[in-house]
Amino acid sequence: MTIKSFNQVSATPFSGHNTERQTERFDSARTMSAQQLPTPPLLTPYKMGRFDLSHRVVLAPLTRQRSYKNVPQPHAILYYSQRTSKGGLLITEATGVSDTAQGYPDTPGIWTKEQVDAWKPIVDAVHAKGGILFCQIWHVGRVSNTGFQPNGQAPISSTDKPLTPQLRSNGIDVAQFTPPRPLRTDEIPNIVNDFRLAARNAMEAGFDGVEIHGAHGYLLEQFMKDQVNDRTDQYGGSLENRCRFTLEIVEAIVNEIGADRVGIRLSPFATYSEAADSNPEALGKYMVEQLNNYGILYCHMVEPRMKTVGEMSECPHSLVPMRNLFKGTFIVAGGYTREDGNNAVAENRADLVAYGRWFLANPDLPKRFELDAPLNKYNRETFYVSDPVIGYSDYPFLEGTA
Ligand SMILES: Cc1cc2nc3c(=O)[nH]c(=O)nc-3n(C[C@H](O)[C@H](O)[C@H](O)COP(=O)(O)O)c2cc1C
Repeated sequence: MTIKSFNQVSATPFSGHNTERQTERFDSARTMSAQQLPTPPLLTPYKMGRFDLSHRVVLAPLTRQRSYKNVPQPHAILYYSQRTSKGGLLITEATGVSDTAQGYPDTPGIWTKEQVDAWKPIVDAVHAKGGILFCQIWHVGRVSNTGFQPNGQAPISSTDKPLTPQLRSNGIDVAQFTPPRPLRTDEIPNIVNDFRLAARNAMEAGFDGVEIHGAHGYLLEQFMKDQVNDRTDQYGGSLENRCRFTLEIVEAIVNEIGADRVGIRLSPFATYSEAADSNPEALGKYMVEQLNNYGILYCHMVEPRMKTVGEMSECPHSLVPMRNLFKGTFIVAGGYTREDGNNAVAENRADLVAYGRWFLANPDLPKRFELDAPLNKYNRETFYVSDPVIGYSDYPFLEGTA
């Protein structure tokens, strides 16, 4: 596999705050066009449970911070609809499950009727164009501060270990995190229930399924990873105990909406928000083996080579052991080009490939991959601005394909 070297980035979690410079190379994989098969592997159909996908290019979940006061806005209708293709799979931006789940300005939620109703026209627009839309459901845990919490309370986590302040995307402000409050054992069922209700609400809004956000240093990882979790109850200590909370959420959601509508995103190798594990491969393998017991639709895993957005490196780890163990659909993400994605599918290292930044900047990405057309560059400076158009729905389509 080709490892591309993107520019360095300072310590930044995805959903917010990054200070990368604007000088990355345009490195679409047009280099292989001469020996390209007539239909590139990424453009072949795939049956994912009940869903007939016409290609394997997935919209990765992308926080855009344009859901004012945590309510999805009408401008999201155009944004998601632009990125919809017939038979294409899209995953929404991370969406809070409760009023304690938030840690960034203007990220959407799915715990109130107003939020559910606001999602409906977005889902309808994707369906009208033949797309399949999953809602990524999320709790940030300690990646928050009292300003985002109801009644100014402390954020919840597995632990009381605080995060160190991090630079925000403008490169000037510093994100402050309030020391978290470890959840009491008897409170954990409440959070499981919040996820269950969020999944039910997602069905009510018309989504095709949910993706449980079990990645990137947020609440579920704060339980799964041994460098964060310092609990002494049945949710801490052994690998089995650390994964218990996430698996209880999986079970509750499977019972609520059916396994064939449930996916999960995991990033055992990542270290975002100071969430690392001493044995990420053991964690990844244990999780997929347990997930097999629930028969969920897909597992979406982030590449170990992806350290932070923009930072890629050679690395000895691979997702292949997890891919081989998992019985459902396996989605990979993290730094994929067209060429890498085609290779991953051709070599059976993945069923589907999720694209983040390239899909953000190229609403017609599957079409461009099909034609091996040039890609628009993405502009990091507008990833998280709150403008309803700029950097959001104003990236151009290929001529004649909009
Ligand atoms: C602007 C932006 C927002 C993101 N928001 C989320 C998110 O809400 N949930 C999530 O799981 N990952 C999020 N990510 C990570 C992406 O889904 C993806 O894994 C990452 O960008 C690497 O893939 P890429 O190299 O194709 O961009 C975000 C990334 C970016 C650039």
